Amino acid sequence: MDKLIVEGGCHLKGTVRASGAKNAALPIMAAALLAESPSRIEGVPHLRDISSMIELLKALGAQAAWDGPDAIVIDPSTVSHQVAPYEIVSTMRASICVLGPLLARYGRAKVSHPGGCVIGPRPVDLHIKGLQELGAHIRVDHGYIVARAERLEGAEVFLGGTCGSSVLATANTLMAATLAKGETVIECAACEPEVVDLADFLSKMGAKISGAGSPRIEVKGVARLSGARHRIIPDRIEAGTYLLAGAMTGGDVTVAGGQPAHLAALIDVLRQAEISVGHKRDKVWVKGGRPRAVNVATHPFPGFPTDLQAQIMALMTIADGISVITEKIYPDRFMHVSELLRMGAYIIREGPRAIVQGGAKLSGAQVMASDLRASAALVLAGLVAKGKTEIHRVYHLDRGYDRLEKKLENLGARVWREQE
Ligand code: UD1
Repeated sequence: MDKLIVEGGCHLKGTVRASGAKNAALPIMAAALLAESPSRIEGVPHLRDISSMIELLKALGAQAAWDGPDAIVIDPSTVSHQVAPYEIVSTMRASICVLGPLLARYGRAKVSHPGGCVIGPRPVDLHIKGLQELGAHIRVDHGYIVARAERLEGAEVFLGGTCGSSVLATANTLMAATLAKGETVIECAACEPEVVDLADFLSKMGAKISGAGSPRIEVKGVARLSGARHRIIPDRIEAGTYLLAGAMTGGDVTVAGGQPAHLAALIDVLRQAEISVGHKRDKVWVKGGRPRAVNVATHPFPGFPTDLQAQIMALMTIADGISVITEKIYPDRFMHVSELLRMGAYIIREGPRAIVQGGAKLSGAQVMASDLRASAALVLAGLVAKGKTEIHRVYHLDRGYDRLEKKLENLGARVWREQE
């Protein structure tokens, strides 16, 4: 198992290019199953989750392989069974994305129930509800979600849950609705850019979709879809993490290939924190100064993303003043708190809130990566900590950050990987 070593004290400087968005690529790869012919998906990041999705598609009998540096070709015509096994689903929750496509295309699907995870309980009731309203019969049997339908039928589906909309439940319902008979209206749909990217891909495949990116998506079902060629949008969470790395280190960092509109909430928070931020076309840049404490609450898009909550907390540990960080999507997503405390941060957790007393002089320590974004926060903290920070269980980072060390090194960071 690898560990990551970060030696603090560098001001990051330069330009880093955002890779394609993991959270757009995964459902889009699953959507390729809906077609009768191959799809070519470009701008795919090199990540462990992408390898897991390739493995899952192959387990279903599809052909899926890299074709060039950043493209994947998926041929669904050889799909021979419709079971997503526990061994793969347990490594990547996004495997649930194959549920809608398999059901819509083959009339049946059996997907291991993803259960909870380290960031808290993660129910799938909205996925099940969406598909049931399209006419599927679903039961949970021996840890598997077992779904059947002769042919799905369009319906009005309300997808709001106790924490608001759900990104992947919207994706699953949307994918299934493309091949359903008649019209589907999804209310309280997730508005995330990754849902829009999925809808764009589905439209290229021949689906009839309007309203993606708004809380009401309308789908006119079609009889068949064909494979398409598509380029994935840039990863706003990766881009945001590098902007925060620039802000953290008092550096001067430009993220190229991003979409500033996808980062509006982060840009606003950084400006409130008195960090200088600018953007033009596909570039966003920060010039770090001394950050001021700001209060942040996570929300569905276009609100502040939960996937940047840990990283903004890292910044707040060294800001001037006290900040309150409220987690509205995953109230238990605070595993990074205890590791940041080991590095000298002052943080009190109270339910879904963390109160951060800024101004900490962080020092390098041995810390444990607990999940993907928590790990990114530890890297950010390591960049400003005195001495060396050793981040164990670095495989979490490999799930979501494409060539992280290389990109940080190019910005002047001292970061490397060692075997445990
Ligand atoms: C996606 C992202 C993940 C991000 C999350 C929230 C991917 C691969 N993952 O996950 O990185 O952190 O959006 O932006 O795109 N919920 C229910 N019932 C459900 C489904 C979800 O109550 O059936 C709740 C969740 O517990 C959570 C909220 O809805 O409180 C939002 O979760 P959701 O948008 O579904 O997250 P994912 O799509 O799994």
